[in-house]
Amino acid sequence: MSNATQHLEGPIGRRTRSCATELVCRDCGYRTALEERAFKCPACGDGLDIDYDYERAGAAIAERGLEGRPWNVWRFEELLPITSAEAQARVGQFAGHTPLIHADRLGAEFGLRKLYLKDDSTNRPSLSYKDRVVGMAIARLLELGKDEVGCVSTGNVGTAVAALAAKAGATAYVFYPGNMEKGKAKACRALGAQVCQLDGNYDQANRACRELSLASGIEFANITLRPFYAEGAKTMAFEVVEDLGWDAPDHFVIPAAGGTLSSRVHKGLDELETVGLAETAGTKINIAQAGGCDPIATAILEGGEIEPQTPDTAAHSLAIGAPGDGPLVVDAVRTRGGSAATPTDPEIWDAIDLLGATEGILTEPAGGTTIATVGQLAAQGKIGPDETVVAVISGNGLKTIQDHPDKAWPEMVACNLESMGAQLEDFRRIAATVA
Ligand SMILES: Cc1ncc(COP(=O)(O)O)c(C=O)c1O
Ligand SMILES: [Zn+2]
Repeated sequence: MSNATQHLEGPIGRRTRSCATELVCRDCGYRTALEERAFKCPACGDGLDIDYDYERAGAAIAERGLEGRPWNVWRFEELLPITSAEAQARVGQFAGHTPLIHADRLGAEFGLRKLYLKDDSTNRPSLSYKDRVVGMAIARLLELGKDEVGCVSTGNVGTAVAALAAKAGATAYVFYPGNMEKGKAKACRALGAQVCQLDGNYDQANRACRELSLASGIEFANITLRPFYAEGAKTMAFEVVEDLGWDAPDHFVIPAAGGTLSSRVHKGLDELETVGLAETAGTKINIAQAGGCDPIATAILEGGEIEPQTPDTAAHSLAIGAPGDGPLVVDAVRTRGGSAATPTDPEIWDAIDLLGATEGILTEPAGGTTIATVGQLAAQGKIGPDETVVAVISGNGLKTIQDHPDKAWPEMVACNLESMGAQLEDFRRIAATVA
């Protein structure tokens, strides 16, 4: 047994309460056992999804109740795909359960009284929503008895894989596109992962990593483990609706790159209704994409299919021009209602500053894209002043601070009362003109 899997020794076969049944192709109906190492439908090539025995899940949740459940991504384990209790115990014990914050000051700027922020910029261990999905992927890796994991990343998957693999005792190989924030690569190195930047954009890197994972037999968190990975994103829907007292919001506003988060929030909302925890059919999903990479938003706003694009935006974590789960997102928005917006890079940076100055939250461009989108949808009347809106802040601005536009400050003021007094007066004058 390898180092990574030694800790899985324990009561043999101890199972979680997962009610997952099979891997399934939503497109053609192909089904295969959960134990199979499959991620793509052999019949039609579509990505595989996880199916559940929802009747059993609903009964199990009703019987067991909510008291005493952990406040982490495993809270509704009945609706998650991991069956090994040992793998579950090893991963993501502190991931999820991020705060839902009533953004009264930001909401006032947009004329929204019930604006909430789901603040995944504080997710653990790596400060982005990716801790949810990568948590499921690493647990699956342990379930398979493997101790090496790769990933291809626009930034945050890499840091999540590096951190969660380290804690699980697995070796991580992170592949980044050429154009991304160096701080994220540095963070991966500090976390003990091997990092490689490829001479191409994300979509080119993704294709190459798929070939590498199949040739090498190494599991890739967001390629070969993808059906399991994606399920982690549902936990955001579960947490938000529970935090709102099982009263689902009128709107989610979600940033999209590959489309995993938004499509799985949709699935999670559906599941809450199916198992009888909440009525969620009225919740609309709105998509935030940067104007320099907006294939999903364009399909939503203009109709038709997704047309791949070549990304050109400072929102590097959202820069996926050929989104794998894009069609699922478009379906979700068309089914539930909702819309999209495509702010420019300057609008994204302004929105980051506005969020910081009103709510004290420093986010990266993905979160700025969400906030700019909320503002635009409110101004267009697509979100009403008294509707409950949950905007997803999916990543932390400390990771991208080097990229934020510079704002000068006085760096060499004499260290005495006279100079500092004059400086303070200056500060007050500036503050008064901003207010
Ligand atoms: C901070 C952040 N927010 C949102 C997303 C979008 O995720 P998805 O690929 O699930 O659409 C990403 C993905 O890379 C991200 O890093
Ligand atoms: Zn199929």
